[in-house]
Amino acid sequence: MNIQKNYMVGFAIMLFASLNIQCKGNQKEEKSTEVTDTQKMEIATIEKTAFGTTPEGESVDKYTLKNQKGMEVAIITYGGIITSLKVPNKDNVYEDVVLGYDSLAKYTKSSPYFGAIIGRYGNRIAKGKFSLDGKEYKLATNDGPNHLHGGAKGFDKVVWTAVAIKGDSTASLKLTYLSKDLEEGYPGNLKAVVTYTLTNDNVLEVLYEATTDKKTIVNLTQHSYFNLSANFSKTILDHEIAINADTFIPVDATLIPTGKLTDVTNTPFDFRAAKVIGKDIEAKDDQLKKGLGYDHCWILNNQNEGFKLAASAYHPESGRLLEIYSDEPGIQFYTGNFLDGTLPSKTGGTYAHRTGFCLETQHYPDSPNQKYFPSTVLNPGEKYTSKTSFKFSVK
Ligand code: BGC
Repeated sequence: MNIQKNYMVGFAIMLFASLNIQCKGNQKEEKSTEVTDTQKMEIATIEKTAFGTTPEGESVDKYTLKNQKGMEVAIITYGGIITSLKVPNKDNVYEDVVLGYDSLAKYTKSSPYFGAIIGRYGNRIAKGKFSLDGKEYKLATNDGPNHLHGGAKGFDKVVWTAVAIKGDSTASLKLTYLSKDLEEGYPGNLKAVVTYTLTNDNVLEVLYEATTDKKTIVNLTQHSYFNLSANFSKTILDHEIAINADTFIPVDATLIPTGKLTDVTNTPFDFRAAKVIGKDIEAKDDQLKKGLGYDHCWILNNQNEGFKLAASAYHPESGRLLEIYSDEPGIQFYTGNFLDGTLPSKTGGTYAHRTGFCLETQHYPDSPNQKYFPSTVLNPGEKYTSKTSFKFSVK
């Protein structure tokens, strides 16, 4: 029995070591590598399976990245969507903590950006219009009068080309998409590359890169809905959130920045010390009323530090702690206010109001039309880069 078990373990190690999989589209190269004993300890794995076909006939794959500890992230090439993310609780039980669906058809039918890469412009652009060098560009108005998250067919709805890359102790998935000149109304051929890397420290890193051949605008982000309880029938109101920000961006009735900034002191928007989401979410406050809860961008402190702790989320019952580091100047905190119990949950039932929250690192909403916000313009010859890490632990 023991011999058989040892043989099985040895076989699994050899299999993972010999499958240094490089996948591009449908081509697949398999490379043999020799591993040392220390490397064996650090082995991370990548598994590729088919996830279905889009209504347009494009095939979609699912890549499951797993680290040595057992943390696991599944990403599909449609929208670069994270379909599941398994992290330990304080009893070392690994469970899925992101909302999503169990089939491609559900994602293509209707999704509030569950787990997706958002581009070319995360968040809203007023009236779907902006100008560059005196020329006006028109974008889809897919959110009332405004443009939201890249338009009718944003980066969340396209099929990305994937390359799986295995390091000694990391597993990465590099996704590439070429957005053609004037696609969704944006100027320039934009080559976007998003690399997800899972490390053995239970960190999921997201590196965004882009280049263009014409002056354009870019603001990429990740739209995972977290519920650290791993029970999607429970609301997220019991999670403790901290946001490292002294100010936030107030919005008008259509969620476009008013142009002013508000100090969070003595407002429901003060998350400088960790606070349970439910504490103030129903407070009588004009901004909460406009967002139907929290749906705002905070201006992160310590921007000169570059890559910094932006926010954290802690779920006391499970002990799960998520810390988000980023070099972006802002973070959108959205409390799943538009979830209304109509979308099917992957664990049965439906996603009810506020059963997931998003913390989306990004530049500020409507920056192309706001004179005093940091620029989101990308010129030919420049490289857009942005990095965010999701670090999971227990306390
Ligand atoms: C926005 C919400 C929007 C949601 C879409 C969030 O990033 O801030 O206003 O409804 O995405 O699901």
